[in-house]
Amino acid sequence: MSTRPLLNRSLAGMGTTIFAEMSALATATGSINLGQGFPDTDGPREISEAAARAVLDGRGNQYPPGPGVPELRTAIAEHQQRFYGLTYDPDTEVLVTAGATEAIAAALLALLEPGDEVIAFEPFYDSYAACIAMADARRVPLTLRAPAFRPDLDELRALITPRTRLLLVNTPHNPTGTVLTPEELAAVAELAVEHDLLVVTDEVYEHLVFTGAHHPLAALPGMRERTVSISSAGKTFSFTGWKVGWITGTPELVAAVRTAKQYLTYVSAGPFQYAVAEALRLPDDYYADFRADLRRKRDLLTAGLAAAGFRVFEPQGTYFVTTDITPLGEKDGVEFCRTLPERCGVVAIPNAVFYDDAEAGRAQVRFAFCKRVPVIEEAVTRLGTLRAG
Ligand SMILES: Cc1ncc(COP(=O)(O)O)c(C=O)c1O
Repeated sequence: MSTRPLLNRSLAGMGTTIFAEMSALATATGSINLGQGFPDTDGPREISEAAARAVLDGRGNQYPPGPGVPELRTAIAEHQQRFYGLTYDPDTEVLVTAGATEAIAAALLALLEPGDEVIAFEPFYDSYAACIAMADARRVPLTLRAPAFRPDLDELRALITPRTRLLLVNTPHNPTGTVLTPEELAAVAELAVEHDLLVVTDEVYEHLVFTGAHHPLAALPGMRERTVSISSAGKTFSFTGWKVGWITGTPELVAAVRTAKQYLTYVSAGPFQYAVAEALRLPDDYYADFRADLRRKRDLLTAGLAAAGFRVFEPQGTYFVTTDITPLGEKDGVEFCRTLPERCGVVAIPNAVFYDDAEAGRAQVRFAFCKRVPVIEEAVTRLGTLRAG
């Protein structure tokens, strides 16, 4: 047998995702899972019914068209117009993907070549590092540091080299909850234009902004032609298992991403695509109520965590809150999260796994608040016993 490792070396060390490990721990210990970001209630009943109807009516049960069903592509284009005044042609400028996860993979595999550098804010969503590695490109982190987690724009400028191909942006940002301000977005856009960089922007939490507003990067001057924007129905409509995501961009960018995408899944989620088309057209009240509900849950969890002794970094968006465990006399988030289920029956995620610079996130722990109020209340009660224990 060859001594060469079985796993492609670019994926070495990427083992099981922390979400799988922590969710398994939650099940094994019967803990409350505030680790992985999935809601514990489904999205609107009428949207579930639309999906069931599509299955029974035979819509989408066979391979849907490669770019996505026209109904959904039209609804995505309408959504971009309705919320941001951005115009996209549903036939050439929209592509439906298997969740935002496939959109990220297809975009990076399509747009990167070996040796290209990608600047991404760290802590970063774990699939970014894996996809950059699979493209044989190099990730260059721009570290968002506690307590404010703002991007240092001078540092960003300094990180750009002749090898930089792409900026990978995420706003609202998982796990810190940072929402880029119009000034920060303008600075990022100026740098992208000045250095002729491509931009991939992951905006899956676009409808979960509590402070300020979500501004799509593609709306800034000079950005439409260089930006692939990514979003997903999983987050906005609380159907994470359906895995319906999408990109919008110029015909050239969409054609490039589609080329990679067609050899990943080709197509997915046929009947769900029809249901998501209906979801995107829900009235403004749906979006406002969804945001208000999550804001209440954020306030409940952040107050409980603070009372339990955590240092809380209040998120401006997303459904995650990052904390610092130092005031509890703890130093290491990975160790803390591994023992937390047994100490008090709660599961969380150590932010260190989202960093290349593990020291920068060592004492940080992330909790998800997309859970029912009684679940959050019970979690808070349990976490409140930590100091006594
Ligand atoms: C920042 C970010 N991007 C992408 C995804 C994946 O989205 P999807 O479930 O649509 O693949 C997530 C899910 O947690 C996320 O937090």
